[in-house]
Amino acid sequence: MDKLELRRKVAQARRAIPAEARRSAAAAIRENLLDRPWVQMAGLVACYWSTGDEPDTHGLVFALWKHGATVILPVLREDDDLDWAVYDGPDTLAPGRRGLMEPIDTRRGVEAIRTAALVIAPALAVDRQTGVRLGRGGGSYDRALARVGPNVPTVALLHEGELIDGVPAEPHDRPVRYAALPSGIVAIR
Ligand SMILES: Nc1ncnc2c1ncn2[C@@H]1O[C@H](COP(=O)(O)OP(=O)(O)OP(=O)(O)O)[C@@H](O)[C@H]1O
Ligand SMILES: [Mg+2]
Repeated sequence: MDKLELRRKVAQARRAIPAEARRSAAAAIRENLLDRPWVQMAGLVACYWSTGDEPDTHGLVFALWKHGATVILPVLREDDDLDWAVYDGPDTLAPGRRGLMEPIDTRRGVEAIRTAALVIAPALAVDRQTGVRLGRGGGSYDRALARVGPNVPTVALLHEGELIDGVPAEPHDRPVRYAALPSGIVAIR
């Protein structure tokens, strides 16, 4: 299956998830993550503000911030690379490119992700053997993850069934080290 086909398949499956199952999935992913010492101890977390059918991160971002972490969220640049800005509570977001909510705070630059102790990334699917993630096709996270050191935990958030075998990979694709699903967190490598 190629990337386009797999994106379509996952998008279709995501649309079919009932609202109640979405809510419980988001809560389970959040609790699974907040249980981990390496999440609790991360002083600077790079996360993202979910949209559409993605596993919801709004509660997670809020909880991390409440817990005292500095949370940076992406600001999508014209070239599809990711700039970063600090989340400072629910009133500090505004719609940006493609309607994505982004922090109104000063942009810290594309290199800001280098300072994160934990990186939480979106994905449509993750390969259970290699950790290669399939995104929405902008290559934004491939660029961002290329700046993250090998010892920093990188986690993709998935709905159940999206940790699979045979995710198509190209040389530029960057893997993640963990997949967070409602059923638990899977360490890939
Ligand atoms: N390091 C990079 N520098 C410049 N362009 C890149 C880089 N990595 C990927 N791209 C571009 O992004 C395009 C889409 O890549 P790909 O299909 O892997 O996206 P994706 O992984 O689904 O998206 P994302 O990373 O945003 O989740 C590639 O064809 C390539 O042109
Ligand atoms: Mg990719």
